[in-house]
Amino acid sequence: MNSSEPVPSGKTVYLKDYAPPSYIIEKTELDVDIYKGETFVLARLQFQCLDERPQALTLDGEALELLDIAIDGKALDSTQYRCDHRGLTLHNPPERFVLTTRVRILPEQNTSLEGLYRSRTIYCTQCEAEGFRKITYYLDRPDVMSDFITRVSADKNECPILLSNGNKIDGGDLDGGRHFATWHDPHKKPCYLFALVAGDLAKVEDRFRTASGREVTLQIFVEEKDLDKCDHAMSSLKNAMRWDEQVYGREYDLDIFMIVAVDDFNMGAMENKGLNIFNTSCVLAKPETTTDAGFQRVEGVVAHEYFHNWSGNRVTCRDWFQLSLKEGFTVFRDAEFSADMGSRTVKRVEDVAVLRTLQFAEDAGPMAHPIRPASYMEISNFYTLTIYEKGAEVVRMLANLLGPADFRKATDLYFERHDGQAVTTEEFVQAMEDASGRDLTQFKRWYNQAGTPRLSVTDEYDQEQRRYSLTIRQSTPATPECAEKLAFHIPVAMGLLGEAGELALKLADESLDDLPEDNTHRVLELTETEQTFVFTDIPEKPVPSLLRGFSAPVKLDYQYSRADLATLALHDSDGFNRYEACQKLALATIQDAMLAYQQDTLAEFVPDSTLVQVYRLLLEDNSLDQAMLALMLNLPSEAYIAEEQEVIDPVAIHFARRQVAAYVGSELAELFRLRVSAYDPTREYRAQSDDIALRSMKNAALGYLMLLPTAEDLHLCLNQLARANNMTDEMAALTALVCCEDNTAQEQARDALTAFYQKWQDEPLVVNQWLALQARNPIPGALERVQALLQHPAYDGNNPNKIRSVISVFCNNNPLNFHTGTADEPDAGYRFLAEQILQLDSKNPQIAARLITPLTRWRRYTGDRGQAMRLQLQRLADQPGLSPDSYEIVSKSLN
Ligand code: PHE
Ligand code: ZN
Repeated sequence: MNSSEPVPSGKTVYLKDYAPPSYIIEKTELDVDIYKGETFVLARLQFQCLDERPQALTLDGEALELLDIAIDGKALDSTQYRCDHRGLTLHNPPERFVLTTRVRILPEQNTSLEGLYRSRTIYCTQCEAEGFRKITYYLDRPDVMSDFITRVSADKNECPILLSNGNKIDGGDLDGGRHFATWHDPHKKPCYLFALVAGDLAKVEDRFRTASGREVTLQIFVEEKDLDKCDHAMSSLKNAMRWDEQVYGREYDLDIFMIVAVDDFNMGAMENKGLNIFNTSCVLAKPETTTDAGFQRVEGVVAHEYFHNWSGNRVTCRDWFQLSLKEGFTVFRDAEFSADMGSRTVKRVEDVAVLRTLQFAEDAGPMAHPIRPASYMEISNFYTLTIYEKGAEVVRMLANLLGPADFRKATDLYFERHDGQAVTTEEFVQAMEDASGRDLTQFKRWYNQAGTPRLSVTDEYDQEQRRYSLTIRQSTPATPECAEKLAFHIPVAMGLLGEAGELALKLADESLDDLPEDNTHRVLELTETEQTFVFTDIPEKPVPSLLRGFSAPVKLDYQYSRADLATLALHDSDGFNRYEACQKLALATIQDAMLAYQQDTLAEFVPDSTLVQVYRLLLEDNSLDQAMLALMLNLPSEAYIAEEQEVIDPVAIHFARRQVAAYVGSELAELFRLRVSAYDPTREYRAQSDDIALRSMKNAALGYLMLLPTAEDLHLCLNQLARANNMTDEMAALTALVCCEDNTAQEQARDALTAFYQKWQDEPLVVNQWLALQARNPIPGALERVQALLQHPAYDGNNPNKIRSVISVFCNNNPLNFHTGTADEPDAGYRFLAEQILQLDSKNPQIAARLITPLTRWRRYTGDRGQAMRLQLQRLADQPGLSPDSYEIVSKSLN
C-alpha cells in the first residue's frame, strides 16, 4: 500500500459511540529487525473473541507496507482481507486465532516522530496516543491490553543497546555483525505504552530499595556526551519513588526502570511501562547549562512520568476521551510532589499563573472543551492545558473537599479496585464518593462542561448586628459544546482580615461545637447560581480574602480598593492571596497606564503610588521567602493582562506594562541595587529551593534595574554575565542586557550574544535558550531577527525543540512584535506563522497544529488585527491536503 495517500480530514469521533472491543489480544509477540533505511516488523497476535463473532475485524495500521499475512500459520489470500491507508480488515475471522503479519516501515523517513523513528543516531518509538498503528497492524485502543514479548535486532556496532518494556529475557549475537535482545513485560498493557529503543547509548545506573525491600535497578540512557547531566534526574527519580510510597502507598512493580533521552520528541516525555522516553530538555541538567527553572522542570517531569506507573499504566484509560483520568490526576500528583520538594506556595503561584493565562485563554476560545470531551477529530490535539492543568485543578478540588484522610482512602480504593483495568473518569469519582460518603453528582459537571466560571462577589457589613454577608454569583460563558451551563460545585476557601489581623469566623448556621480548629479559615461550598453566606459576631468591616490557594479554577470579581489590596498583600495569612493582591494592584496600575496610552498621554503618566509603597514594604520585610518576594514583585505577564481584556490591544499592554515596570525600577532602584551587589556571583551553585529563591529575587532586581540602567547597573549586569558559574545567573544577565533599550547596552548585547553562542554551540539545550531569548526579545525588529535565526546553522526545522524555541516563542511570548509585524507590513507576523505551519504540516502535523494556537484567538483582537489573523487561518484552511490535526483546529477556529 501507499503510505503517502492523503488521509481524509474532518471525521469526528464521539464518546457516545464508544463500544467495547469485539476481540482482545491476549498475547503480542513482536520481532523488530532494524536495518539501515528500513525496519521489518513481524507480529504474532493471539486474538480471542469476547462476545458474538463479528463478520469482520478491522485492525488499525498506517504507513505500513504489508509483506506477509497468515492466520494460524496459513497464508491469507486476497479475498480474506482488505488493506487500505487506515488499516487491515479480516473477513470472517475465527473465534480464536493467531494472526501473523510482516510489515516494512521506514523509521529514517518518519518525520512525524510518532511510531518508530530515528532521532539523531537513536531509534525510538512514540506510541501514545495512536502511534502503535505505524509499527504494526493492531487494535490500537487503550482498552485492549496485552502481554508483550518483543525481540529487537540490529547492527551491533550501530546499536549496541536494545531496549523494550519489562525484563530482558534473552539476547545474543547473530550473523552479519548483528545482535538481538528479547524483552518480556509481565504486566498487561495497552499498546500506547509500548516502547522500543536501539542505539549507541551510554548509561548511568543506580538502585532503589522499595518499601517492601525489593531492589530496583535504575538506568538513564543518554548520548555519551551527556553523561555528566544525569545526576539531577536520577535523584529526582529516587525522590519520586519514595514519595509515591509515602504519600500514596504505591510501590514500583518491575526489577528495572529505564529512562532514555532523545533530542527529537514532540512532547516532554512518555511513561512507557518500565522504559520512559524523554525529551532531552526534560531529563538533562547541570548547573553550567541548565537554569533553575530547567532543574525544576526535570524534577517535575521525571516524577510525572514515574507517577504514571500507577495513575496511567496500572490503571489506564478506557478510551481517549478519558485522557484527563491519567493526565489530570498525574499532574496533580507531580505538583504536590514538587510542592513537597521545594516551596509549596511558590509552586502553586507558578502553576496558577500558567493556568490563568494559557488554560483560561483556551477555555475562552474556539478549541474550548471539557476535561472529558464528548468528541474530537484528532486526539493529538487534545493533549491540552485543559486536560492536563484544569484536569489537575479538578482533582485538587476533590482532594480538598475530601480532606487528606478520605482522599487517601479514595485513591487506595481506586488503585485497588481498578488495578489492571482501563476505566473512565466516572469510576475515579465513584471511588471518591465510595471512600468518603460524599455525593459528588453536581461536582461531576466539572467533567463535562467547558468554560471558566466567573464569580461575582459582593458583601455587606451590618455594624449593629455585627453581621457580615458575602453574596457569590456564578456564571459561565457559552463554549462550543454547550451554551447554557448548569451551576458548578465550587469550593471557595476564604478568611476575613480586620485591623489587627485574621478574624474568628462563625457562619450563621454553624453551631459553636463544630467550629474547626483553625477558626480563621473556611471553605464555602457554592452550589447555586447565587448564594449568600452570613458570618456572625464580626466586630468590624473586614477585607475578605477570597479563593485562598486558588481553591477553584475560576475568575473572581470583587471590588477591592487599592488600600484593601495593600492590606491583603502585606498581611494575609494565605501566601497565594498575598501574591494575588499584588497582581491585582499591579494590574490596576497597568490598566491606568493603558488608558493613558490610548489617550496618548503615557509619557506624562505617573502611576498611583500604592503599588510601589507595597513593594517597598515587602522588600524591607526580611521574613519573606525570597522566591515568594520575587513572584510578588513580578508584574502580571502581557498574556495575563491580555486575558483580562475584553478586546486585546497588545501594543497598549506592552508599553503600559513597560512604563509601570520602569517606574517601579526607578523608584526602588536603591533597594534593587543592594540585592544585586550583595550577591556573590561566584558563590557555589546548589539547585535547592532557598538558593533558587535568592537567585530569583536577585535576578528580578537586576531585570528592574536594567530597564533604565545607570552606568553602575550596566556594570553589575556585565559583571554577572562574565563571572556567573551557573546558567540561571548567566541567562538572567544576558536577558537583561539583550532586552535593554539603552544604546550602550545594545552594543554590548550584540557582542554578548555572539560570545554566548560561541561558548555554548555544542550544547543544543543551551542553544535553544539562546534562540528563545532572541525570539522573545521585545525590542522592535524581532521578526527580522527571527527570520535570520531560521537560517542560522544552529536551527533545525525538523527538531521540535528548535521550532518551539524560535517560532512558538516568537508568536506566543513576543506579542508586541508578533502583532505589529514589520514597518511596512503590520500583518507580517501572522503571515510568517502561516508559512511556517504550511511548511511543517506534512512533516510533523502534531507540531504544526500546536503552532496554530495564537491565530485561533483572532476574535479577541480589534478589527484589522483580528481580520488579518483570520485571513491566515483561511489560507491554511484552503490548503489542499492539510493534515487532520491542523484541519481540526483551523476549521473550529473559523467557525
Ligand atoms: N503521556 C505523556 C505525559 O503526559 C505525554 C505525551 C503524549 C507524550 C503524547 C508523547 C505523546 O507525560
Ligand atoms: Zn502525563
